[in-house]
Amino acid sequence: MSILEQIKSELPWLDDKVIFDLTRGKPSPDQLSITEENFRSINVPYEMDGIDLRNYGTPEGIPSARELGSKILSTPFSNTLALDNSSLTLMQQVLACSYHIGFNKSKLSNKSKLLCPVPGYDRHFKLIENFGVEMIPMPFQKDGPDLNSLESLLKQHKDVNGIVCVPRHSNPTGHTYSDDNVRNMFKLLQSCNENFMILWDNAYACHDLKDTTPQSPASIMAEEYDLQHNLFILGSTSKITLAGSGLAFFSSSKENNEKFIDYRNSLTPGPNKMNQGLHTIFFQKKSLESQMDGLKKIILPKFQMVDECLLRLKEKNLCSFTSPTGGYFVSFESTNSKAQEIVENCLNLGLRLLPVGSCFPYGDDPHNSNIRIAPTYPNLENLDKCLKIFEKVVEKLN
Ligand SMILES: Cc1ncc(COP(=O)(O)O)c(C=O)c1O
Repeated sequence: MSILEQIKSELPWLDDKVIFDLTRGKPSPDQLSITEENFRSINVPYEMDGIDLRNYGTPEGIPSARELGSKILSTPFSNTLALDNSSLTLMQQVLACSYHIGFNKSKLSNKSKLLCPVPGYDRHFKLIENFGVEMIPMPFQKDGPDLNSLESLLKQHKDVNGIVCVPRHSNPTGHTYSDDNVRNMFKLLQSCNENFMILWDNAYACHDLKDTTPQSPASIMAEEYDLQHNLFILGSTSKITLAGSGLAFFSSSKENNEKFIDYRNSLTPGPNKMNQGLHTIFFQKKSLESQMDGLKKIILPKFQMVDECLLRLKEKNLCSFTSPTGGYFVSFESTNSKAQEIVENCLNLGLRLLPVGSCFPYGDDPHNSNIRIAPTYPNLENLDKCLKIFEKVVEKLN
């Protein structure tokens, strides 16, 4: 009997027509519903902070929404912009602004190289690749990017003009950078601060599911090393309120913010301020903390289910993984370099996983070992089925 036939006989509920999907870190309908409930009781605002929300203008975002961004990202209010949906879109604009006109201390070119701790976020890599900027993968250490490797890559390569960081509950590894790691990284980066961008994508800034290493504000640490013009902090409410209809935030030095607004003025006559107003009222009625607690109640059991499954596989020496303390992903490492076969076999049984290599620049997983598991979207019953398929496949292939 083939592996697939064996598994089909062991999991009789498998149905050729039903597709399970663990590819993307999407909030589940339950998460969106608790947010919707709150939005339903809000009257659409047309004026706030003395600003006509209906009109063009206020390219930096309305003050109340900027306050919200500064709270989420732990950035100074005066340096925080509140903009439209999707921080990923903002990252594209930040790269484009650096590429086309340059920031105070960042000018990307087609000679530029960006350092990418791996495994990392697939959309970051696709975005950077689209600019024709070369990506250099680098490993992690336990508490953030591997600093020995950073030091040698900076010596080895010319034109290294940046690094991409997801400092809390990194996608997909779950790394949360320690202050020591950040300070030592910043110390090393001082040598190249004339043209260097630290892309600080804090997408999971307040998405703790368990006790998580406390972090000092990155903007304060950057100032200690005179890197305030090199740090570009991004984040959003996508995984706090509504993924498709949230607010994104940006924070850098005053000079960089001005440059960015100037650049964005050619793209848009102003952000969606009515959505900024809606979000402001949302968080006047419900604290950020209680919103995150409500989401945690839905998400945590899913992560516990993944943990239990991967622990069983780890005990059989079939994988390694580090249980994340928050965020949206779990990173599975196949002990026997069988990621490709695992993904293919899962797909043949109706379980979609991200293609192997997705979490690496240019899709190249050198060890054929990494699989990103995104457990938030399915309900518990379906997640259980997904994990049963995954576990059986990993066991049978080894
Ligand atoms: C690290 C990281 N950054 C950005 C995003 C996308 O965020 P947004 O919805 O704000 O574009 C994601 C979504 O998975 C992510 O994991």
